[in-house]
Amino acid sequence: MNQRVVDVSQDARARAHIDEAKYQAWYEASIRDPEAFWREHGKRIDWFTPYAKVKETTFGPGDVSIKWFSDGVTNAAHNCIDRHLAARGNQVAIIWEGDDPSESRHITYRELHAEVCRMANVLRNRGVSKGDRVTIYLPMIPEAAFAMLACARLGAIHSVVFGGFSPDSLAGRIQGCDSKLVITADEGLRGGRKVPLKANVDAAIQRLPADSVDHVIVVRRTGGAVEMDPVRDVYYDAAAAQVTDECPVTHVEAEHPLFLLYTSGSTGQPKGVVHTTGGYLVYASMTHQYVFDYHEGDIYWCTADVGWVTGHSYILYGPLANGATTLMFEGIPTYPSISRFWEVVDKHKVNIFYTAPTAIRSLMGAGEEPVKKTSRKSLRVLGSVGEPINPEAWEWYYRVVGDQRCPIVDTWWQTETGGILITPLPGATPLKPGSATRPFFGVKPVVVDSDNKVLDGACEGNLCIDDSWPGQMRTVWGDHERFVQTYFSTFPGRYFSGDGCRRDADGYYWITGRVDDVINVSGHRMGTAEVESSLVAHPKVSEAAVVGYPHDIKGQGIYAYVTLMQGEEPSDALRKELVAWVRKDIGPIASPDLIQFAPGLPKTRSGKIMRRILRKIAEDEFSSLGDTSTLAEPAVVDDLIENRQNRT
Ligand code: WT7
Repeated sequence: MNQRVVDVSQDARARAHIDEAKYQAWYEASIRDPEAFWREHGKRIDWFTPYAKVKETTFGPGDVSIKWFSDGVTNAAHNCIDRHLAARGNQVAIIWEGDDPSESRHITYRELHAEVCRMANVLRNRGVSKGDRVTIYLPMIPEAAFAMLACARLGAIHSVVFGGFSPDSLAGRIQGCDSKLVITADEGLRGGRKVPLKANVDAAIQRLPADSVDHVIVVRRTGGAVEMDPVRDVYYDAAAAQVTDECPVTHVEAEHPLFLLYTSGSTGQPKGVVHTTGGYLVYASMTHQYVFDYHEGDIYWCTADVGWVTGHSYILYGPLANGATTLMFEGIPTYPSISRFWEVVDKHKVNIFYTAPTAIRSLMGAGEEPVKKTSRKSLRVLGSVGEPINPEAWEWYYRVVGDQRCPIVDTWWQTETGGILITPLPGATPLKPGSATRPFFGVKPVVVDSDNKVLDGACEGNLCIDDSWPGQMRTVWGDHERFVQTYFSTFPGRYFSGDGCRRDADGYYWITGRVDDVINVSGHRMGTAEVESSLVAHPKVSEAAVVGYPHDIKGQGIYAYVTLMQGEEPSDALRKELVAWVRKDIGPIASPDLIQFAPGLPKTRSGKIMRRILRKIAEDEFSSLGDTSTLAEPAVVDDLIENRQNRT
């Protein structure tokens, strides 16, 4: 166990909103009387009608219902833009840094207001109104922010689909929420390479019933030639030229949905996670302020893509609700050089930098020089998110990137939680490399064993949360039963995260990773069932089982066991074909790293695949397979070991 403790620096302590004493006092108050705590902190956003009700939540058993501030009326775009105009209309809201280092753009709050109103008017002219779903399939360009905020302004519900998803995945997500309008770009640009977004949208729509999508709005990014349907498609610049830059804000109830975000689980197809307006915004903005110790004037950069929840909460909604300057980066860490992150930090004098362990690990490989040749003296706080950060990567991030000056906030949370739940606070929390440390205000983690028994003190088990917080997801779009089943049935009466964790004697939490059939590849969540169903859809595949295995850069890699149809022969060519198949079917993030052709899979006599054994073999730890006597055909295991792909 890593015992190193990195104490809070004098600098961090001196300027921090929250010191240790305040953390203890606020945390204790938030758990003792959540109603009073959140009644106070709910005021951090503007309300058109103030709330009288605060917390109306139950985790069952039985009914699960979550409402916060339910009689309050507000609007997220108003809170992220309009309310700042008087005091900071000329302050930069968004710094956009292009893929090409010669391209950047500064957008003030006043300009953001005009841009968002224009986009909202374009949507309104195409029939979008309160409650309608709009699918956004855009690269990391300012229009992605305009589009999300334009939806929020109208009370429409956005569903952002990451630009790396395939036409099939996009089609499923358009159909899943019946959106009639899609906003995309001609092409995306990442690391100098073009991504055919509009062509993907065309291919997605082709797979859907004819009346599914009425409008496609196409932002010009590269100017590349794309097919335009004369009735359905319009270029954004042409449409925007027809409308004004004023658009009234739609007043919405606190519990009106703000967005859907599809995410993978252990079973079935991705589900639409529903986040609502009031509680989400209170929680995203409050965590942004305290976790990153954000102060007026800070330049803040989160390197995530807006296609993931991190981009929603910590590029857009949290920072803008706080009137911050948020940096949005179109490119990748290694283009045009491996110093790009640090060059951008210096170029824009970034104070707070939030990235993923996978990025750190991939940069570590190139050594210190590409980092050390940059100044980075503007940096004050570093953040990590997406997967457990291994102590080696933590130390490198701390020493090489942060020059041992900057606290690292290792933030544990999920798409479902809306915002950060377990995290250090820069001026309060002594750090332990590899630990997400302690709960944020109002968050009540519990560790339970497989019988739902609460474990005390230092322990290891399943990480659950025992009471609601305002940023929590409210339901699965169109399927409340699935919401209850997925999160509240394994351990009745509690929210189950799907993660395992250890708690040490200091009450610090160490996330050990997923305990369900979800794998985390480069901080992106993938359901093994999704990859399996893609593989078995290939005509030569009869059966497939997918597990994760430790990967030096990605955290986890995708290991697929594939049984071929009778008469098909394993070959390297077929291996490549299967990788390409999954890539095309789901998207590059789902590409299997290793494929093992297996004549048979280990099954119990009742036909259930024993994944425990497959995981062990994939981890190259087959000496500890445990009991295999219950297998229908114990001999298949010998073949699996013999032909394993991951020999270390
Ligand atoms: C899963 C959620 C939350 C935004 C990004 C991912 C893992 C996330 C950490 C962390 C250890 C982490 C968990 C979680 N995870 N952050 N700091 N330490 N694990 O969102 O796609 O919903 O995935 O990511 O396993 O359950 P997501």
